[in-house]
This record gives sequence, structure tokens and C-alpha cells, in this order.
Amino acid sequence: MQEPPFRFGQVVSDEYFVGRAAEIASLTVDLRTATNVVLISPRRFGKTSLVLRVLHALEREGVLVAYVDLLRTPSKERFASHLAAAVYHGLLGPGAQALQRATEWFGQLRVRPKITLNQDGTPSFEFAGGAPSQDVDATMEHLLEMPQTIARERKRRVVIVFDEFQEVLELDPSLPGVMRSVFQQQGEVAHVFLGSRQHLLRKVFADRHQPLYRLARPMALGPIEDAAFAPYIRERFAAGHSQITHDGIETLLQLTGGQPNDTQELAHFTWVRAIAEGSPATGETVQRALREVVSAESARFIVVWDNLSPLQRRVLSAAAHDDTRLYASEVRQRFQLGDPSGLQKALQRLSDLELIETVQRGTYRVPDLFLRAWLRETSEPLHG
Ligand SMILES: Nc1ncnc2c1ncn2[C@@H]1O[C@H](COP(=O)(O)OP(=O)(O)OP(=O)(O)O)[C@@H](O)[C@H]1O
Ligand SMILES: [Mg+2]
Repeated sequence: MQEPPFRFGQVVSDEYFVGRAAEIASLTVDLRTATNVVLISPRRFGKTSLVLRVLHALEREGVLVAYVDLLRTPSKERFASHLAAAVYHGLLGPGAQALQRATEWFGQLRVRPKITLNQDGTPSFEFAGGAPSQDVDATMEHLLEMPQTIARERKRRVVIVFDEFQEVLELDPSLPGVMRSVFQQQGEVAHVFLGSRQHLLRKVFADRHQPLYRLARPMALGPIEDAAFAPYIRERFAAGHSQITHDGIETLLQLTGGQPNDTQELAHFTWVRAIAEGSPATGETVQRALREVVSAESARFIVVWDNLSPLQRRVLSAAAHDDTRLYASEVRQRFQLGDPSGLQKALQRLSDLELIETVQRGTYRVPDLFLRAWLRETSEPLHG
């Protein structure tokens, strides 16, 4: 079986990683100089891939790096467990002394984690529920202080990454304040926050009344430029024993706008078609592949659709059409979007669900290319 030449829906590295030279350079400088960064983008723009790439390079320079993935962190205890694991894997290692050190370090905590050894010999740490909440808070604070203490003790720079940071904001309203007061004392540690709830994250780092105000430099991640993607697509087709025409690449990038995940996904299905047809992929092949992906994913879209109110559905369909200034009265009339206050609520809900995003004030779009195509296919705009 041959390896498919494109990757999507997971972190990418090495030959699957394209472009981002400017972002890599600036992030590297920031993290070397203990500057905090908040990296914000819609889902699947490559935040995690970018940061992991920079972390690996920094590790080779001797920087200690800890990576905390907060996806599915529904409690502070779970957060503490993830944090302890990140401290162990990134900062205390390597080798046999790491466990010894972890036992000492975590032994000082008010609430101590249960340490179990996995089959491969690596430990996992679990803070069980049920401890008094002030003890849990004290433990969290102590864990958050560790990177700096370790940086001093081991005389190394430290980077700590909080991926899916938005989850923390929903755990406990006092947590951001605690993080700020601890992190501000950490001169040798760079903190990186990643997240996709753009509106929420911008607000918590940019609003003067928020505890995380100006704690980190905001960095936005956009699409990948055609100049990097086009040669990548050509080379990957060749690596996958196929070809794509110039027109094929152009059609593909025009459809995806350089959105990293969509580009790799559509390229993958185009490649599958080209292999099946035994001829180079053209613009036509790309269009056929798009229809295939849309029909393959339609079950998922139907679930999304079923969970929306009729008004939300009409708003979503309207946003699937280009350049929709949804508040304009002729647009509201044409798509039956009702009065501005109801529309605003529907938009809020849809953007919480990450189904739409704001392009500019008053202009919205459906960021998921495949959902957009599905909506255009199935929902008749209610007159043209
Ligand atoms: N630099 C890149 N080069 C090529 N493809 C990329 C790049 N960055 C991201 N991608 C594509 O986007 C997909 C998602 O990347 P990644 O998981 O890093 O994004 P993310 O922003 O962290 O997503 P999420 O918000 O879901 O956590 C990858 O599987 C890949 O297809
Ligand atoms: Mg990610």
C-alpha cells in the first residue's frame, strides 16, 4: 500500500508541512526571548503544526518545552493532570531521574497526583476529584509555578504551550487571574496560548478589563500563500505517482483560498480520482473531487443542520453565498432573516458553533469549504 501524499485533519510535519517561513521566524524569536504569544486562527489553519515545528527546533537548541493540550479538559483536576504530565515529559526528563524528580516535585503539592506506570514504562498522573476546592486551587498555582522554578534550577529557557486554551476560560472564572499573577513572575518562561474561538480569545487578551490583558503578543494565522502551496501540490502528486495540471492547481487553490486543511483534503481526493482515472488531474477533476467530498460528508452536515432552528438555517444558507452583508435590508428580505435583533442572536449562535465567521464588520462567511458547497448545492437561494 502506498502512503497517500496529502495529510489532513491531524498535525503535519516534515514533508507535509508547507510555507509559514515568516511565522516560524517571528515565533522562534519570541519564544527564545521569553515573549508570550497568543496564536489565534479559525479551526484547522495549522496552529498546532506551526507551534510544534518551532518547539522541535528550539528543543534542539537546548530549550525545555512543555506542551499542554487542553482539548477535553472539563475540570481543574483534569487540567492539573495534563499540566503535571507536560511538566514531567517536557521539563523534568529525560531518563530515569525524571520519575524520581517528578515524585519529589509532585510530592510537595497540596493535592498529590496518583502516579501510575504505563506498559511502556512512562508514568501518568491523575488528580482525583473530591479534594477541597481551595486545595485544588493551591495545587494548580503550585503547578503553574513549576516551569519557572525548573528554568532557574536547570539554567535553561522554558517554553510552555497551552493548546485549545479557550477551554480553560470556561473552567473557572478566577483561573485567568491566577495565571496572570503567576506568569508575570516568570522571566525565563515563554507562554504560548493557542485557540480557535477567535472572538473570545481576542477579547480576553485585548480588553483592558480582562485579567489576561496584554499578557501575550497576539499573532494571527491566515491561509498559506499560493506561491508555497502550488509547488507543494505538484510535488506531492509526483510523490504519489500522479500529476496535476497548472489549471488543476489553480482551480484547487481558488476553491480553497489556501485554507490549509481544505487544500490538503481536496488535493487528496483529487489525487484519488486522478489515480483511479489514470490521467493527470485537471480543473474538472478537482470539481468532481469536490462533489465527492461533499457527498461523503453530507451525513455530518445533516446532523449540524438538524440541530439548528429554521432561522439559523436560513442565516447559514445566506452566509454560504459570497459577500453577504446579512444586515442589509434587501438581503434580510431575500433570505427571510427577520429583524436585526433576531438575526444577531442567530449569528451569535452560529459563530459559537464555529459555523460562520466574520470577514469584516457586517460581512460573514461559512469558513468550511465543504459545508459551504453543500449549502449551495442543497439550499435553493430563495430567488436569484
Ligand atoms: N504548514 C502547513 N502545511 C501544510 N498543511 C498544513 C499546514 N498547517 C496546517 N495544515 C493542514 O491543516 C490541517 C490542520 O492542521 P493543525 O491541526 O495544525 O491545525 P490547528 O489550527 O491546530 O487545528 P485545530 O483548530 O483543529 O486544533 C493539517 O492536517 C494539514 O492538512
Ligand atoms: Mg490544533
